[in-house]
Amino acid sequence: MSEHKRPEPKRLFIETYGCQMNVYDSERMRDVLRPLGYTPSDKPDDADLVVLNTCHIREKATEKVYSEIGRLRAHKERRAAEGKTTTIAIAGCVAQAEGEEIIARAPEVDLVVGPQAYHKLPELIARAARKTGERLAADFTAQEKFDALPARVADGVSAFLSIQEGCDKFCTFCVVPYTRGAEYSRPMADVLAEARALADQGVREITLLGQNVNAYHGEGGSFADLLNAIGEIAGVARIRYMTSHPVEMDDALIALHGAAPKLMPYLHLPVQSGSDRILKAMNRKHDGALYRDIIARLRAARRDIALSTDLIVGFPGEREQDFEATLDLVREIGFASAYSFKYSPRPGTPAAAMMGQVDEAVKNERLQRLQALLFAQQLAFNQSQIGRVLDVLVTGRGRRPGQAHGRSPYLQSVHFADERARDGEIVPVRIVGASQNSLAGERVMAATEAA
Ligand code: 5AD
Ligand code: SF4
Repeated sequence: MSEHKRPEPKRLFIETYGCQMNVYDSERMRDVLRPLGYTPSDKPDDADLVVLNTCHIREKATEKVYSEIGRLRAHKERRAAEGKTTTIAIAGCVAQAEGEEIIARAPEVDLVVGPQAYHKLPELIARAARKTGERLAADFTAQEKFDALPARVADGVSAFLSIQEGCDKFCTFCVVPYTRGAEYSRPMADVLAEARALADQGVREITLLGQNVNAYHGEGGSFADLLNAIGEIAGVARIRYMTSHPVEMDDALIALHGAAPKLMPYLHLPVQSGSDRILKAMNRKHDGALYRDIIARLRAARRDIALSTDLIVGFPGEREQDFEATLDLVREIGFASAYSFKYSPRPGTPAAAMMGQVDEAVKNERLQRLQALLFAQQLAFNQSQIGRVLDVLVTGRGRRPGQAHGRSPYLQSVHFADERARDGEIVPVRIVGASQNSLAGERVMAATEAA
């Protein structure tokens, strides 16, 4: 009689930094490690394997990684004293960009794995345990990765789905074209199979991800074709996508915002600056006028579309009048939410070597002025929902007893009293309160509403 041998149970902790692509990748790493007996844990305390899924986009994000490695060294030593081994893996964009340096600087790190090599994790971990072979794996293509990852396991009613990776835009401030490599789009059939698998597991909302998601041009169709095909999957009620580049917002995609009922009225469209001089130096391939025109056309297609953006202050050569052009653009458009950053020089990118680097104090002052405006716009947008009835996708229970939590079509977080609401339901909620980051509401009973 043969007995099927199960892998020994082990604990896995993944710390995720940076963008939604990393959130997606962390989920896929959990999927690939599950058959080896790794159960995900939400704290590093007793983890046998700790993965830091890192971000290289700004200097601060990178610094965090090295300080976290320091903390993990203590964790590893403490467990070693108890006779337990701990494997430390560094994944993500810092791994890709600074792999050699990590290996040299941090001997406690067992392996360094770039974003295209996650399907190799089981082998890398086994090799690390035997102390044979490479500690560094960063040399694969996006296609190899997607082809080799196991079937998707859904977690919750809202899921990310990566459809595109890498970037060929080469904005002069950005490391992504170097860390995530050339643009790659997954074949449409693969994306649709993953979307159907998610829907079969109860997923109602899919957010398509890519560093340049609307540049998608996978085998089998355009981005608009893909959105339409996902719209036909019965269980999927809501579709979102991020992050987009303005030059890829073509007529077909803009029109779809008015025509595809499942496409949510919310778009994250980074503009970075309102100054044409700075946009040119950033190699953004668009000016303020083109961005304004895209927004006008989007609003013509879908009147209530809520907009979000990314902005950088203190790019090399930015003068007071350039910064004021950014404030003007923000005032004119009115964003429902936004991310704003001080320019951070990234080694190897063209902007890091440009003349006219801006003083830290000036960057701080501009960021404060910009954020005051953005916060006021966000609050005003949230307050403008008071009195409206919004369709809320229930994603879980709220913090208070009897409370449910969900998302509005505009991606706002909504809390409302409801004992019965089940995850995945879409319920009408009357908005009665608004703060900077969330809305409070009351469930509207369908019968009352119909009357
Ligand atoms: N400095 C500051 N912000 C940056 N971003 C990308 N690179 C840098 C940098 N070097 C911002 C951009 C981008 C977002 C993900 O991060 O606004 O859209
Ligand atoms: Fe970076 Fe620009 Fe590519 Fe976005 S479009 S990932 S900012 S290079």
